[in-house]
Amino acid sequence: MSNIILVDLMYGDSGKGRYVDYISQWAHTVVRTGGGANAGHTIIVDGKKIVLHLIPSGVLRSGVTCVLADGMVIDPEVLVQEIEMLGFSPIKLMISPHAHVVFPYHKELDASRENAVKNPIGTTKRGIGPCYESKAARSGVRIENYLDTPLGEKLRPFVRDTSRYLWNATRADKNILFEGAQGTFLDIDHGTYPYVTSSSTVAGGACTGSGLGPTCMDGVVGITKAYTTRVGNGPLPTELFDEVGEQIRKVGKEYGATTGRDRRVGWLDAAALRVACRLNGVDSLAITKLDVLNGINPIKVCIGYKVNGEHRDEMPLNLNELELAIPNYVGLAGFNCDFSKVKERRDLPAEARNYLSFIEGELYIPIEFISLGPDRNEAIGGNPF
Ligand code: GDP
Ligand code: IMO
Ligand code: MG
Repeated sequence: MSNIILVDLMYGDSGKGRYVDYISQWAHTVVRTGGGANAGHTIIVDGKKIVLHLIPSGVLRSGVTCVLADGMVIDPEVLVQEIEMLGFSPIKLMISPHAHVVFPYHKELDASRENAVKNPIGTTKRGIGPCYESKAARSGVRIENYLDTPLGEKLRPFVRDTSRYLWNATRADKNILFEGAQGTFLDIDHGTYPYVTSSSTVAGGACTGSGLGPTCMDGVVGITKAYTTRVGNGPLPTELFDEVGEQIRKVGKEYGATTGRDRRVGWLDAAALRVACRLNGVDSLAITKLDVLNGINPIKVCIGYKVNGEHRDEMPLNLNELELAIPNYVGLAGFNCDFSKVKERRDLPAEARNYLSFIEGELYIPIEFISLGPDRNEAIGGNPF
């Protein structure tokens, strides 16, 4: 395999940044294909934390080329700041001329709309919705038409035909990782509309957003936390309002990487993951933050829903049905573990291994990456390419 799509199976923040940073040791190129600075991808190396909003999370690995592809909406102020923070040479970063520019008025419009309504979406106020509106209305400004401005001049050295670059890299059998942003249930078509973002966040979006056809893709990795979080408004049927939820939020440091808001916390939702796995054609799973569940007993997992007395094995996506849906939980034995001693899956306590096998059994998909802590090497996983 050489072209792999990483897709967040839930509501974002599943640890895509940390996964991409780890896997990039084997990657040639890492690509962002959609969304913009609404994303916040955290990488921690030897205790030093970096949050990236636009530049792909492969950037800390020398030799990896980072691509901001056609489907993105780019805030030049944020991008120039990130480039200056990282201070690297033009060769390693490429920006598509077709990506759209987020202007200050997009951000102002986003914020003023959110502030004006009684039931806001809870956006990141990064101008994402208004910028994609301009794009769809065919009145937006692309990067290629922005280069003569003071910020545009700074971006000029990085701009080139990224779709063609990716095609050539694919033909040369290079390892390319497509770093998803946001999450499946924030997808404009398949998410919990209208509580979604304005881009295509499912695996298919990696094709439209990069200009590479579906036959160029070789695998889809679906990533989720060992529990669920959501930031912003919209349904979260397994949400916890008790001290267990509070414990998970504290231990897991569940505060937004972009806005600092408290993330809402809930049990793992296998019925939602089932939907996500089929929407994305997932063929392997990455599970993060298993360590955060340490000491919690029992650990619950939602395996289906009751809607109007009828059993469903998938989370309903119709908001009216979702409001009525009652989660059906199973309780699994918790674990106590010194994760610093765990180097392989078999080193985990039986209860933790059982939790992982349970997820695999619900989804019929193998777990091939397990994250046990936020730092680069606190993970179990081999070369997925
Ligand atoms: P992304 O948007 O999917 O890249 O995820 P974020 O970076 O927004 O949020 C994930 C958060 O969890 C970050 O603060 C990471 O440092 C942290 N994290 C990732 N994996 C693990 C893990 O296995 N254990 C713990 N405790 N924290 C993790
Ligand atoms: P990463 O890539 C979590 C959410 C917002 C809001 C909705 C719409 O870090 O996983 P927007 O600003 O996009 O119009 O907001 O989508 N949202 C995210 N939640 N992680 C993200 O990105 C998100 N990007 C947008 O909170 O509910
Ligand atoms: Mg995030």
